[in-house]
Amino acid sequence: MSSSLTRKKSVAASIADTEDPEHGLKKEMGATQLTIFGVGVIVGTGIFVLTGVAAAEKAGPAAPLSFIVAAIACGLAALCYAEFASAVPVAGSAYTFSYTSLGEIFAWIIGWDLILEFAFGAATVAKGWSGYFDRLMDDVGINLPSSIAGQEAAFNVPAVIIVGIVASILIVGIRESSRVNMAVVAIKLTVILLVIGLGLFYVKSGNWTPFIPDSQPGTAATGLDEKPLIQEILGQPTSAFGVPGIFFGASLVFFAFIGFDIVATAAEETKNPQRDLPIGIFASLIICTILYVLVSLVVTGMVPYKELGSAEAVGAPLAYAFSANGVGWASTVISIGALAGLTSTVLILMYGQSRVFFAMGRDGLLPPWLSKVHPTYKTPYRITIITAVAVALLAAFLPLKVLGEATNIGTLFAFVLVAIAVPVLRRSQPDLPRPFRTPLVPLVPILAVLACLWLMLNLPVGTWLRLIVWMAIGFVVYFTYARKHSRLARPEAEQHEPAR
Ligand code: ALA
Repeated sequence: MSSSLTRKKSVAASIADTEDPEHGLKKEMGATQLTIFGVGVIVGTGIFVLTGVAAAEKAGPAAPLSFIVAAIACGLAALCYAEFASAVPVAGSAYTFSYTSLGEIFAWIIGWDLILEFAFGAATVAKGWSGYFDRLMDDVGINLPSSIAGQEAAFNVPAVIIVGIVASILIVGIRESSRVNMAVVAIKLTVILLVIGLGLFYVKSGNWTPFIPDSQPGTAATGLDEKPLIQEILGQPTSAFGVPGIFFGASLVFFAFIGFDIVATAAEETKNPQRDLPIGIFASLIICTILYVLVSLVVTGMVPYKELGSAEAVGAPLAYAFSANGVGWASTVISIGALAGLTSTVLILMYGQSRVFFAMGRDGLLPPWLSKVHPTYKTPYRITIITAVAVALLAAFLPLKVLGEATNIGTLFAFVLVAIAVPVLRRSQPDLPRPFRTPLVPLVPILAVLACLWLMLNLPVGTWLRLIVWMAIGFVVYFTYARKHSRLARPEAEQHEPAR
């Protein structure tokens, strides 16, 4: 039994799968498209919403340092992702990488875990989108009932609508999706550069002093959804600000970086993955880090950081910073840019989810009929529809915070597993061509694991419990379905036939 749990898919078989006409995807993206793709998903709720929360509640004006800490953890993970993505350029991201290196059970764990990142992430951003939509409607004098719109809604209708629109775009195909995405990315980058360029004129340096406010005990944060696990372990009262606050902020704004890894999920649709994937991953990560640091510096310079936590500011801190400085028109422009920005983020997160499911279906770990591609559009339409329904339900019913933290812990866990897999694959398959090699192995993977674990420890206890429950459900599905239906469970001669 243990050998069936660790049975591995060969790298050659993974690559050969992409040649199968019925299950393969079109190859048409290059490095520039991949970078735009990455920026499209990375810049989203993080920059438009979490910048303010991190400053007001966690780190004060030192929020840019939180972004830098999170960026370092992501950069280390990216160095590991890039080696795998260039060596195993097929759909499925960390799922596929681990299938070839660690074995089936680990691939399953990662694939199941990535659902947290992609589906919960998409739901989180759809929820953020609905908030901006609500605000924009208010601006034009239409007040949507609070039961169907806004963060307190019992059933969030705008979030469901944006998920439906995005799913339709995805089904039509990657070429059209890329075009839509490129236009949307241009709009949101213009808006962000406007925030930085115009905002600079309203910065008052007094707002940056003290840069790292004194550490403070948190509000009576005893709830499972408030207390970070590290505080529970150390028995300390939850604190905000000071140096610990920078790390609490980092584990929150980590959400803002999610997405660079999704560039790797596009490997199969990339013309020259060996060269283009590492470029796409690092270029998008670096561009976004610079934007985040600048935006958070400007915004905390424009208004006192505590104001960013006020009811008026919390949903749209960037817009608030301008209206508080008497630049009303900029707030509407920013809301429109945020809507465009969040749309492209939902789009790529759902794209990532459907491609991971696609890969799992092709391997027989999920019912294979799911991974059939559309005869005309060449997209995995069935899985896209199922993903959309799940994302819409999550966004309709669950609170933003629960969704966002579930996304963060799931993603960090996947990064930890990918980092571990790099030295493992080096040992088990030393001769595999690796166009991109992670530097300083095993040091970089070890640092990546430690950095990601540290951010995980700064997440609330409730989030950890949800991760454990989710993974337990995953094990039940694996042992009752996936293990028996895996293509690797078939006789050798039939393994290379596509799953039916
Ligand atoms: N990084 C993406 C965002 O900030 C998920 O919305």
